[in-house]
Amino acid sequence: MNKMSLVVYLARAGVGSRRACDELVRDNRVTVGGEIVTFPRQETGPDDEVAVDGEIVVPKQLRYVLVNKPRGVASTRSDPHADRVIVDMVPEGRTLFPVGRLDLDTTGLIVLTNDGVLANRLMHPRYGVQKSYVARVRGKVSKRVLAALREGVELEDGLTSPAEVRLQKQSAKTAVLELTIREGRKRQIKRMLASVGLSVEELHRRRFGPLGDKGLQVGASRELSGDEVDALRRAGEGVRSSLDQEVEGEPMNLAGDPPAGPQAAAGDTLGERGGL
Ligand code: URA
Repeated sequence: MNKMSLVVYLARAGVGSRRACDELVRDNRVTVGGEIVTFPRQETGPDDEVAVDGEIVVPKQLRYVLVNKPRGVASTRSDPHADRVIVDMVPEGRTLFPVGRLDLDTTGLIVLTNDGVLANRLMHPRYGVQKSYVARVRGKVSKRVLAALREGVELEDGLTSPAEVRLQKQSAKTAVLELTIREGRKRQIKRMLASVGLSVEELHRRRFGPLGDKGLQVGASRELSGDEVDALRRAGEGVRSSLDQEVEGEPMNLAGDPPAGPQAAAGDTLGERGGL
């Protein structure tokens, strides 16, 4: 555990939001090494004994795991309709929460964490984390369709924001597209493609913000490095103000939409081929 300010230490121990912890300190209810501390930003580390109203509190270890989800695994903490849930793909994963959702039949990257503040920032619409998907679709993709997807298409929940769209491959019956979006609406890619007459055969998320799937096979997971967590944090800096009340390290309202969509037909996945 690195040194941190006293309020962050308290918040990570689950005492309350940073603001609430700030008040506790100013109300003389917090001691470090038995001495009352009134400066909320005092540097605090693993060797300090911190107590609130005489009760010792210890911050929890924050974890950040990147998973390359296979088909058929639900990206939720529990799902009676799925054989397996994503938190069971990593050791002691039941203490973690998925950042966002992928459909049951979608493969690709999902971050699991117990850092609720960062998770909420990454999912906040104002933050607009970039997500790149590779989709294998049935049919021919015309220039007009590409232009429509780039500009934005009308869905039942409104016009989509401009997207980056590249046609990677066109063969007789199928095409492979790469789409990068900043929104995160339910089944957005499939609905965008359906709106221009394309049905998705396979969908893989190859990038989530600064993280890519290179070197991480579908079905594999790994802990993120400190630099990667910093990169995720930097990406979440824009939405600080409205989320200041949240409890550091405490997952909050991470539940998204229920998993949707039937399982795709068996076969190779885009991710297993390196995201095409
Ligand atoms: N868009 C979809 O349609 N499905 C996903 O799983 C993710 C994005």
